[in-house]
Amino acid sequence: MSAVTTLPPAPDRSGAGLLAGLLGLGVLLSVFMAAGTEDPLFRIHAYLFLAAFTVGAGATVAGITGGSFIPRERYHDGVIRAGVIASMVWALVGLAAGCAIAAQLAYPNQFYFPDHGWLNFGRLRPLHTSGVIFAFGGNVLIATSFWVVQRTCKARLFGGVLPWFVFWGYQLFIVLAATGYLLGITQSKEYAEPEWYVDLWLTIVWVAYLVTFLGTIWKRQEKHIYVANWFYLAFIVTIAILHLINNAALPVGALASRSYSAFSGVQDALVQWWYGHNAVGFFLTAGFLAIMYYFVPKRAERPVYSYRLSIVHFWALIFIYIWAGPHHLHYTALPQWAQTLGMTFSIMLWMPSWGGMINGLMTLQGAWDKLRTDPVTRMLVVSVAFYGMSTFEGPLMSVRAVNSLSHYTDWTIGHVHSGALGWVGFVSFGALYMLVPWLWKKRELYSLKLVDWHLWIATTGLVLYIAAMWVSGVMEGLMWRAYTPEGFLQYSFVETVSAKHVSNVIRLMGGVLYLAGAGIMAFNLWKTVRMPASAADERADPSAAPAAPVALAAE
Ligand code: HEM
Ligand code: HEM
Repeated sequence: MSAVTTLPPAPDRSGAGLLAGLLGLGVLLSVFMAAGTEDPLFRIHAYLFLAAFTVGAGATVAGITGGSFIPRERYHDGVIRAGVIASMVWALVGLAAGCAIAAQLAYPNQFYFPDHGWLNFGRLRPLHTSGVIFAFGGNVLIATSFWVVQRTCKARLFGGVLPWFVFWGYQLFIVLAATGYLLGITQSKEYAEPEWYVDLWLTIVWVAYLVTFLGTIWKRQEKHIYVANWFYLAFIVTIAILHLINNAALPVGALASRSYSAFSGVQDALVQWWYGHNAVGFFLTAGFLAIMYYFVPKRAERPVYSYRLSIVHFWALIFIYIWAGPHHLHYTALPQWAQTLGMTFSIMLWMPSWGGMINGLMTLQGAWDKLRTDPVTRMLVVSVAFYGMSTFEGPLMSVRAVNSLSHYTDWTIGHVHSGALGWVGFVSFGALYMLVPWLWKKRELYSLKLVDWHLWIATTGLVLYIAAMWVSGVMEGLMWRAYTPEGFLQYSFVETVSAKHVSNVIRLMGGVLYLAGAGIMAFNLWKTVRMPASAADERADPSAAPAAPVALAAE
């Protein structure tokens, strides 16, 4: 183990002057945008940019003149605390939006508002998907990556004020995306709905994120780069490439909120689903596997089951995922060989995916009793189990014959949410439950009993959700392909819709339970933060506990 980093001599204000200058430029640019545009929707976003840049520049200048706005701790944890709070807030918003659209699908007549376009399903749906994936998931990924990279590299975050820029810049992206959806600004590419100027802003923020992360790895005091950092890096780099290529577009004007894709026809579809599937592979999988590789060993106080397996399944995942996108385009104008290629690689994906699941679960070897005693471990284990389940189901659904039944139906929605609620949600909750006592220097959580309640209520909710979707998905798929003896379709489309009513109601109930679990969690975390500090307690200092070294020692 190498030597401990020395404290920085003065409050960390590096880069603050430059940042204040750039934000000042941003203020000027947004004034110009607001004044020059003839597009009322674009003007609203120009004002949002203006407000954000003005507040940002003001805060940075106040920080420079007022003293230490970044305390000189050994590690830069302030930004992680902010990330944890943001994650919890966005989780509640994103899940509530999910419940709202679930209610609209269950009771379309009651929750249809012809006079309020912004409240309709078409606008609230992307609000939900981006809310849970990018706002909740993205903040969890940024916050945990900042924690993990510092602890496993034994280095303070690189870049002075840069991490704060990443955090606030990302929140601005979320606000622009969300308000855009409500206003009706969209480029209609699923999971990449924001328009060109929001994409450009995200590019700047993402490059800053990459620089912060890579810079910290560069100045590490630990020879080894722990495997969680590999996964984070794959996530950051690949998302950057996907974002740049899929969002290539020509705006109709420099000050307009509308653009046209650089691709057309089936090429556009292929690029979109190359992006879409890898958003699953690198955002919802690689990033959260990084979380698993740090937080599961840490909670179990055991080394990673097999370090070798983690490296093998890392490279296998990276190489295989990138080819699997065409399974979203079965039976379309895409050449059949490309569809078969996507299907073949998807089936191959099963193995590296389960490599990760096995590695995560087997890390508990020798600590299985924690499953009985510790609800946070239980939550993490349930998440890994759901990872295994959804990565078994995915390859199955990618088989053309199976996809001919599942595509367009609620089966896909069930698959999505077993991965999203079971894997992404639970692994994030587990990590947040661990981070809060560490970051706010508390001995333990306010109540482990409440964690248990959260786990069981949310698990009941998610089982209701996915079981209902499987039933309705297979049912509607079969109804669509049923013929009468005379060769006519047996059911009209509306009959399949009304047959799904019960499932939709059950899904809504499941969603409300899952949201209630998150509410309990928010209360528990809030009470934890409010507990008296226990700075003297050794467990409160995670760097004193066997963090990554436990995992590093593994083989
Ligand atoms: C080996 C891993 C996986 C494979 C091969 C796979 C495969 C598939 C397939 C075949 C579809 C249906 C495509 C269609 O009919 O349109 C699909 C949809 C989807 N999957 Fe997976 N899946 C995997 C893992 C996951 C995981 C772990 C998650 C989430 C954490 C996830 C999230 C999604 C999403 C969001 C969609 C819906 C995309 C859309 O149409 O909007 N998948 N997946
Ligand atoms: C309270 C919990 C949740 C509820 C009630 C809920 C509800 C819904 C509903 C009603 C839809 C639209 C389905 C359709 O168009 O037929 C949807 C789509 C989606 N949700 Fe959720 N959701 C929840 C949590 C989550 C979470 C935590 C995530 C991700 C981390 C997520 C990711 C998605 C995605 C990716 C889609 C689009 C699926 C596709 O196009 O195939 N949801 N959700």
